[in-house]
Amino acid sequence: MKKIILDVDPGHDDAVAIILAEAEENIDVLGITVVSGNNSLENTLNNTLKICTHLKIDTPVYSGMDMPMVRDRFLSTESIGNVHGETGLDGPVFGEITKKPEDTHAVNYIIDTIKNSKEKITVVATGPLSNIGMSLRLEPKIIENIEEIVIMGGAYGTGNVTPSAEFNIIADPEAAHVVFSSGLPIVMMGLDLTRQAKATKEVVDKIGTVGNKASKLIVDLMEFFTKTQKDFFGWEAPPVHDPTTIAYLIDPSMFEFVECNVQISLEHGMTYGRTVCDMHHATELPRNTKVATKIDFDKFWNLVYENVKKY
Ligand code: RIB
Ligand code: CA
Repeated sequence: MKKIILDVDPGHDDAVAIILAEAEENIDVLGITVVSGNNSLENTLNNTLKICTHLKIDTPVYSGMDMPMVRDRFLSTESIGNVHGETGLDGPVFGEITKKPEDTHAVNYIIDTIKNSKEKITVVATGPLSNIGMSLRLEPKIIENIEEIVIMGGAYGTGNVTPSAEFNIIADPEAAHVVFSSGLPIVMMGLDLTRQAKATKEVVDKIGTVGNKASKLIVDLMEFFTKTQKDFFGWEAPPVHDPTTIAYLIDPSMFEFVECNVQISLEHGMTYGRTVCDMHHATELPRNTKVATKIDFDKFWNLVYENVKKY
């Protein structure tokens, strides 16, 4: 049983990551922490509460950073357009939100939970790394009790905000630097990997045959996401980035990796926010990151399908 803290910025693909994780019997989601990114913190928090209310997920939810650690606010609505819509989770119709967030700030929750845990905790981040970076700066001792950090973010090829940078990293590059320079083992699901996990019509239709609330939610999410990802990026089917982090925790055998040094470019200009991945080991720098390069498409979507059936 892996104990995880899941840090999100819903976001259509964050929603699928939450659905996948919460249905998995080998994962114990201790808490869901929320960060601004795909939209304002108010909206990403509301979206998290909508998902949890809709699917009767009782995991505690904690509101976190609304601003990056250093740079000015950088929301995907401005940077890569409204791929997630005005609310950050457009498409599905949700009822009244009944789930309430906890009073504790996400950063304090992350620190206290990791410090007091009897076993190591895995941190999964599918949004900008502001909550994680702040936690590591405020209480570096938590490093000793973190199993690994699994992130959706970065790219060793082209970005999706600039040619260099992927959104989750460039939204808070300094926080990403804190994480990648922490010495913690990192697993990086970058765009080169997540763009292999597209929700094709066949995939969505098969999930739709499940016929429960979770499957209907995914179908409605993907209907909207398919349109915006085509409008903004020309994709025939939307890359569903975030649940690849959860799939790794459940079945790492569906991935291939290169273990290498990854650093975050903080120079302002065209490389700002780039994950500089030393894939061919040109340097002697520590190989701090497992960079995912390949995913078994059928295994991945079959895992999502099987877990959706558990709702
Ligand atoms: O670049 C893709 C990432 O940015 C995903 O996590 C998406 O949800 C957005 O946060
Ligand atoms: Ca996200």
